[in-house]
Amino acid sequence: MKMTPGIRKFALTAHVSTSVGLLGSIAAFFVLALSGLNDQETQAIRAAYLGMGLLAKFIIVPLAFASIATGVIQSLGTPWGLFRHYWVVAKLVLTVFATTILLIKLKLIGYAASLASAAILPRAELRVVGMELAVHAAGGLLVLLVPMVLSVYKPRGLTPFGMRQQQPQRALSERPRPALPRTSRSPGVSSDGTITFTLRRMQIVAFAATVLVLHVFVLHVMKTGLAGH
Ligand code: HEM
Repeated sequence: MKMTPGIRKFALTAHVSTSVGLLGSIAAFFVLALSGLNDQETQAIRAAYLGMGLLAKFIIVPLAFASIATGVIQSLGTPWGLFRHYWVVAKLVLTVFATTILLIKLKLIGYAASLASAAILPRAELRVVGMELAVHAAGGLLVLLVPMVLSVYKPRGLTPFGMRQQQPQRALSERPRPALPRTSRSPGVSSDGTITFTLRRMQIVAFAATVLVLHVFVLHVMKTGLAGH
């Protein structure tokens, strides 16, 4: 499942746009959260929390899912692989972690927006909720800066899975290898010694995970759409 150079550039453009866009939109959310906490004007406070609600539902959540989906595609379609290099695994774990927290906090964001539209602004309650949202936005930004840095530096370090995959290839390039006797072959090791079954299984799992992520995203959009925001 390797991409042609043209498709790889196209997919990379999509990945960088959505991932860096995600960081930018969280930064905007953070500024609005600070404005909601510090502004004295009732209208400005209302606008900040309502804006945060819209930003989270229609920009941040979609970009988070798009970043994961395009990242998985980029991993599987290039020699980086999804589970071969620690930096790719770390990016996946951190982005999925940040997205999970975001989904958990969506209710609180919606609650803040509903408080902000109340006839008499409940400033004290909004302050408590707003503080929590500001802290989470700052935390999210910090967490997601790690994948950003990892993407550019791409530190060395193969996972045990990556090493197992490289060993047969290295051995192959160093000396000609006699075909393994049938009895000594383990499942997934073909006659030239390359591990094919495991890789295919990993790709199927990753593909299923991407479909699941996209599925959750579509459900999210439908739910927020039906909520009539
Ligand atoms: C907020 C999260 C993320 C940010 C900010 C981000 C950012 C970036 C950037 C800027 C690049 C381009 C680096 C370059 O070409 O030198 C990149 C590449 C890449 N990213 Fe991400 N990424 C994120 C999430 C993910 C996730 C979740 C995955 C995998 C599951 C992933 C996998 C990759 C891979 C494999 C490449 C290399 C692609 C290639 O060389 O063609 N990224 N990322």
